Amino acid sequence: MSTETGTAVAADGRKLNKVEAIKLAKDGLEVWNDIFEWAVMDVTEPLESLLSPAQLETFHRTVPNSTAADVVKSAARRAKISEEDFVRLRWFGIYQQLPNLCHFMLRIRIPNGFLTAPQAAEVANIAEKYGRGFADITTRQCFQLHNLTIEALAEILPQLERVGLVSKFACGDTPRNVVGCPLAGYLEAETIDASQVVRNINQMFLDGNREFSNFPRKFKSAIAGCHLHCHQPQINDIGVFGVVRKNPVTGAEQRGYGITVGGGLSSQPYIGQGLRVFVHEEQLPAVARGIAHIFRDYGYREKRTRARLKYLVADWGWQKFRDYLEAAIGFKLEHDENIACPEYAPHTDHLGIGPQKQPGLSYVGVPVERGRITAEQLGNAAAIAERYAAPGEARMALSNKQNLIFINIPSDKTALMARDLDKVGLAPHAPLWRTSLLSCTGTQYCNLAIVETKQRAGNILKYLEENVEIDTPIMVSVTGCPNSCSQYQIADIGLMGVVCNFRGQRGTEAFQILLGGGLGADAAFGKIAMKKVPAEHVHKSIGQIVEAYKANRADEDETFRQFVQRNTPEQLSQWLYIPEMAQVA
Ligand code: HEM
Ligand code: HEM
Ligand code: SF4
Repeated sequence: MSTETGTAVAADGRKLNKVEAIKLAKDGLEVWNDIFEWAVMDVTEPLESLLSPAQLETFHRTVPNSTAADVVKSAARRAKISEEDFVRLRWFGIYQQLPNLCHFMLRIRIPNGFLTAPQAAEVANIAEKYGRGFADITTRQCFQLHNLTIEALAEILPQLERVGLVSKFACGDTPRNVVGCPLAGYLEAETIDASQVVRNINQMFLDGNREFSNFPRKFKSAIAGCHLHCHQPQINDIGVFGVVRKNPVTGAEQRGYGITVGGGLSSQPYIGQGLRVFVHEEQLPAVARGIAHIFRDYGYREKRTRARLKYLVADWGWQKFRDYLEAAIGFKLEHDENIACPEYAPHTDHLGIGPQKQPGLSYVGVPVERGRITAEQLGNAAAIAERYAAPGEARMALSNKQNLIFINIPSDKTALMARDLDKVGLAPHAPLWRTSLLSCTGTQYCNLAIVETKQRAGNILKYLEENVEIDTPIMVSVTGCPNSCSQYQIADIGLMGVVCNFRGQRGTEAFQILLGGGLGADAAFGKIAMKKVPAEHVHKSIGQIVEAYKANRADEDETFRQFVQRNTPEQLSQWLYIPEMAQVA
């Protein structure tokens, strides 16, 4: 990074990290107008001067279908954007993308994963026109589009706004998309309906602008009253989960929320700590704002690798954090020792067909293979939603397992709808593996990746679907580096990209295998069971351990995770062992 912006120093003289200097020199929010100026910037430089032969080589392999003339222009414009402004672009969900020549990734914020059919149709149009015909659904209920030039972005952002979608604060050191239960407000069994308060808090963050535009690092919230805690509160900076309790004074049943703070994955994962409070819905926005302010004002800004809220919470402990929170919000919370974490949290995102609490209506959840959906499929999905949903009520939701749910479908039409969905490759009754296999972006587009993931995840899925039958979902995560975008530490079977020396080939792509991660009252990260399995052979290891589970589980109710916990590491690695491992040096 250049030193154009100088060095940032804290009031007490401590030197801050480089991104702090960038934010001080110009707030991320100020990059908005620049986007539109860059898009029409005059460019005359010959591109050859900007590109190394290696870049050209990569480029030819990764960017089909564009004319060289377009590429030259876009690349020349991109080349004029400073390194500092690339960082600031993240405030609007725009990230650099391999091969770092002329294209960007755009993350679109979908609060609670909720979107209307017209919004889905618009994303499909944009993906078709600008994004090479596909969109990715992320584990935090966002859409990601790839291969967008700066000129395209200047057209796309206003188009999104017209249908009520934004990319503001989708990346960067900001309050990220607020995730929730994709069926909040629709399930009879839910503990409490958090859909409205999620909307309010999301809007509060967006409208806050400068109040929230300079956190030490990203700030992730998950808020839901889902009885299964599908929104994974414990791996977020702020996790809000539904609770039912007996009022300590009156003894009457009472519904509200519990809070965890300081959870997060990436290379140093932490489970959020419970604040042991009972929070009423109307208090939640103040609590969320208070936690955000503590992070902004006390979070660490010296080292970027220690800037997430989790490090502050780990140092302070939950009691001190709760004291500071009460000071920040100006009122005492109701303390309750019993509300430390969600009781249990199975891997689920409500797929399949089931009844809503609204009489006569159902939801229809469909797996999206590896979270990647074609523009055509997404457009078809929006049209099918319009065709079948109760009039004016065509709603969809993105789930945190990278899947898609249709809401408000008259129950007597779900079978017909399933047939139509099947025709466009979105069958609700697809094999179980498909519902629970996650994959991050990997070397195809990600600058941080160590290994390829999307294609591999497809191969692994194909192998498992054809060879290994299961009767209960087993969550598999295919992740390209330690950052954990697809959550390998909390998967039943987590794969994390590494390289190894295989048959004398240094740098062969491989995976570390972790087993038995999960959330809930006994939340724990998966344990490393194998250090390096060559990526081309890893499907066999997975198949073997799952067959071993099926043959040796204590009874039908024993989950894969319980099975892993019950067996010794030696036994588990025997089940994972494949002959190819002997050739890893
Ligand atoms: C100004 C720099 C250049 C740009 C922006 C550029 C851009 C492109 C683009 C967009 C394609 C189409 C790729 C596809 O559809 O798969 C292409 C193809 C190709 N380019 Fe270039 N090019 C540049 C310079 C060069 C140079 C200097 C060479 C050779 C020395 C070259 C050789 C080729 C070849 C052989 C193809 C055919 C497709 C392939 O084999 O991948 N290009 N180029
Ligand atoms: C392609 C470009 C992407 C880049 C450059 C990127 C970068 C990162 C980085 C650096 C981290 C670690 C954060 C930390 O140290 O605290 C991270 C974490 C994460 N990202 Fe991504 N990511 C990308 C795509 C995705 C995708 C496609 C998803 C969802 C499928 C995703 C979801 C997440 C999640 C869930 C985490 C871990 C949770 C946590 O931070 O606590 N990211 N990402
Ligand atoms: S986990 Fe690593 S490789 Fe995968 S998208 Fe995130 S940063 Fe990229």
